[in-house]
Amino acid sequence: MKYTIGIIQPDRLDEVLKRLTEEEIHLVTVSSMVGRDRQERVAEAYRSHKEQGSLLKKVKLDITINEVFVERAVKAIAEGARTGQIGDGKIFILDLPEFIRIRTG
Ligand SMILES: Nc1ncnc2c1ncn2[C@@H]1O[C@H](COP(=O)(O)OP(=O)(O)OP(=O)(O)O)[C@@H](O)[C@H]1O
Ligand SMILES: [Mg+2]
Repeated sequence: MKYTIGIIQPDRLDEVLKRLTEEEIHLVTVSSMVGRDRQERVAEAYRSHKEQGSLLKKVKLDITINEVFVERAVKAIAEGARTGQIGDGKIFILDLPEFIRIRTG
């Protein structure tokens, strides 16, 4: 299994979710968070997302998937979130040794 984390602009969430659904990826955790990046906000301020102190609001997607779906997940996130402007986001892919569905143990 792989654990895929996508950090994107909040206004790209709907498009990314739509593309994930098209790729038959339905299970996803979505969080609002704040972050800091290479530009430390100055160059990105024009994108006008509300700030919390020196941090910019972003959305995080956590997706646990079979390895064969990773490429599709990355494509959906990257193509759904990309505008070509700074601050489009990042994708992190980790190996996940184990997870447990509580209902079934
Ligand atoms: N190396 C990192 N470690 C942890 N979080 C990161 C890292 N890089 C980016 N992030 C998170 O992703 C968010 C978006 O980053 P962003 O897309 O601006 O990256 P960037 O490297 O500055 O790329 P760009 O030059 O396109 O702006 C950041 O606000 C932060 O929350
Ligand atoms: Mg940036």
